[in-house]
Amino acid sequence: MEALRIESLTKQFGGVDAVNRVSFAVSVGERLAIIGPNGAGKTTLFNLINGQLGPTAGRIHFFGRDVTSLPPHRRAHLGQARAFQVISLLQELTVLQNTLLSINGTKPHRFKMFRPVMAFKKVLQKAANTLTDLDLWEKREDPVKNLSYGEQRRLEIGLGLSMDPKLLLLDEPSAGLTKEESADITGIIKNLSSGITVLVVDHDMDMVFEVAERILVLHYGELIADGNPSQIQNDQKVKEIYMGVEDAADYAEID
Ligand SMILES: Nc1ncnc2c1ncn2[C@@H]1O[C@H](COP(=O)(O)OP(=O)(O)O)[C@@H](O)[C@H]1O
Ligand SMILES: [Mg+2]
Repeated sequence: MEALRIESLTKQFGGVDAVNRVSFAVSVGERLAIIGPNGAGKTTLFNLINGQLGPTAGRIHFFGRDVTSLPPHRRAHLGQARAFQVISLLQELTVLQNTLLSINGTKPHRFKMFRPVMAFKKVLQKAANTLTDLDLWEKREDPVKNLSYGEQRRLEIGLGLSMDPKLLLLDEPSAGLTKEESADITGIIKNLSSGITVLVVDHDMDMVFEVAERILVLHYGELIADGNPSQIQNDQKVKEIYMGVEDAADYAEID
């Protein structure tokens, strides 16, 4: 079954084709990495998938439904979640407050004034489970700004997961992290329930090659390769892009 189908998707900014006639389909539960040099169009592609941006041309289908013109919150309700490249937590609020807000934000009636007490108990229980899974329950009363960068990243990804998404978009989850923190995130991604479809953009090739069953390569907005990790590592065009690099896995060092 198809989770996502992208058809000839194009996004132009002025004269720049940030994403240029990109087409691919992703099966339910597939783990897909998207790589490419800075400016290749990876973040723009994610912005198009989750509705942050509208395409210049092309279509997006999510579980068989054409979502091309749906706004981001409608796509979220259909099961899309995203962890942003730039940390989007509310720094002055506590870990628990951020978690409650995130869980509440996924419910269509989030602005109802008189929520039944039982409904709130459920949300609180869910927040407790989420934070326990992330090993952050002990820090629930800490303002987010007091967490390490790695913990903030972990929380952010965990909050995406607390929405029980069908599709998780991770844009550079390892950015700014130490090797150890990056390995923690890799572990979280690898342990995700097999029904969740995951698209991850990252420059950490250890993470990419450990997590991905399939890799797409973007270059100047165009999809230039699509294959399993060993196909991508041996792809001539991919090697040329990472000029003089014998092995795509070495790319992490020169980025
Ligand atoms: N909001 C924007 N306005 C104008 N140009 C943009 C905008 N966002 C991205 N771009 C341009 O689109 C191209 C792709 O950018 P981006 O998707 O951020 O690449 P990546 O995430 O692969 O580094 C770049 O040339 C970038 O400068
Ligand atoms: Mg980017």
